[in-house]
Amino acid sequence: MRDVTLLNIFEHHIAQKYLNRSGLAHAIAVAYHAFHSAKESQVDVDIAAKAGLLHDMGHYTWYKNGKWDYDLYRQNDIHPIKGAERAHKLLIRLGENPIKAKTIALAILFHTDSFLPTNDIERTPLQQIVKWADEKDEEVGGEHHYRKIDYERAKQSIIRLDEWIDSDLI
Ligand SMILES: [Fe+2]
Repeated sequence: MRDVTLLNIFEHHIAQKYLNRSGLAHAIAVAYHAFHSAKESQVDVDIAAKAGLLHDMGHYTWYKNGKWDYDLYRQNDIHPIKGAERAHKLLIRLGENPIKAKTIALAILFHTDSFLPTNDIERTPLQQIVKWADEKDEEVGGEHHYRKIDYERAKQSIIRLDEWIDSDLI
């Protein structure tokens, strides 16, 4: 039995705030990709799906005059650091196992090289899965952050993924 489900996370107002900011449809797609890939690689599917869902919750909005400013973003972005911290705080608040919360936070921290000075980190299989799951859903020009999904459909997708995770953990 898990301490925290994806639905518990999804319904929390902090998750709603940040998942909607960086794209709820993208977050759910990455959670699904991470689940499938973790299952194939015999990595913990619950941890992978949670890290996938929350991986972009550290995003800040780098808008200037109503348009996304890529230069500002590239220079100043630390969304993996903020995301790791926010996800960890949220998970602990919801009652997540602290070891799991740390593992998820680290997978979020290392889900991209975009904020790092070099591209040479050695990732654990879980961290590699979350990075790959994110890249699989990426669209040119960051369009994946703007794909829409309505609340009810999003909730049903989360419930279905929770069921898959639970049946995988039996
Ligand atoms: Fe992403």
